[in-house]
Amino acid sequence: MRMNAARAALLREMGLTPLWRPREAPPLQVRTAAVPQEKAKPANAPEKPANAAPRRAAPELVRLVREQAPAPAPQTAPAAPQADAQEIAARAARIAQLDWDALEAEIHACRACGLCKERRQAVPGVGDRAADWLFVGEGPGQAEDERGEPFVGRSGQLLDKMLAAIGLRRGEDVYIANAVKCRPPYNRTPEEGEIALCRPFLARQIALIQPRLIVALGRPAVLSLLGENLPIRANRKQFFPPARVLGNIAPMLISYHPSYLLRNELEKARAWEDLCLAAERMAKEKGKH
Ligand code: URA
Repeated sequence: MRMNAARAALLREMGLTPLWRPREAPPLQVRTAAVPQEKAKPANAPEKPANAAPRRAAPELVRLVREQAPAPAPQTAPAAPQADAQEIAARAARIAQLDWDALEAEIHACRACGLCKERRQAVPGVGDRAADWLFVGEGPGQAEDERGEPFVGRSGQLLDKMLAAIGLRRGEDVYIANAVKCRPPYNRTPEEGEIALCRPFLARQIALIQPRLIVALGRPAVLSLLGENLPIRANRKQFFPPARVLGNIAPMLISYHPSYLLRNELEKARAWEDLCLAAERMAKEKGKH
């Protein structure tokens, strides 16, 4: 990709200019020491209360999120009570029939998990409903909960710059959604059970949008889209085939979550590599038909 003045300015804004190298160059040696977790709490996130207990997903929901995925389910998860499993499957089947308006209404009214208790509003997603690109994040933060739109806070500003760096704009051939549609309290990472219950909404969004390419930003997005809890770094730079990805429609690339990039500036160079790879693949996909 040729770097013109506008792109150079964007990369500078992303903090990439000093690190950026042409794709033909050897891999960047930006960091050799141990790195922190991919998803860090946003800077403006209030601290968890000292007595907040670690929250775990109900075992039956953990099993369901894995079972709903095209990928093989792990063997060790305990069986769900039959009634719950049937109810959850019936709900997913119903959601799979909804049109856009009904889907968004259902998301706004959803009370399937505890996240509904503290949200201001659900945040279904935003963008071109016939987009070629689908970016999937983790879940709304405070700003998104207030505005009802994904990625409008600091990480959203970075996401917009990342999109612009490959010639994309929010809302134009791009749809942005999250693994969970309601803000987790204290901006904590969503639990597996919450992701499982929100997954039919993402599946329906994918079916309606029919994207050519999905970019998963961070681990909760990967869990929802693949049904597997995979680390980001080791799974970048490869396209997961549609048959392994929620919806069975589009290939998927994994990259870092923007809020992780805000805390780990040096990783922006890797995110830039990912975006270039995605842009190349999109050009090929568009060339097919
Ligand atoms: N982080 C996300 O993953 N999604 C948002 O919408 C905002 C921040």
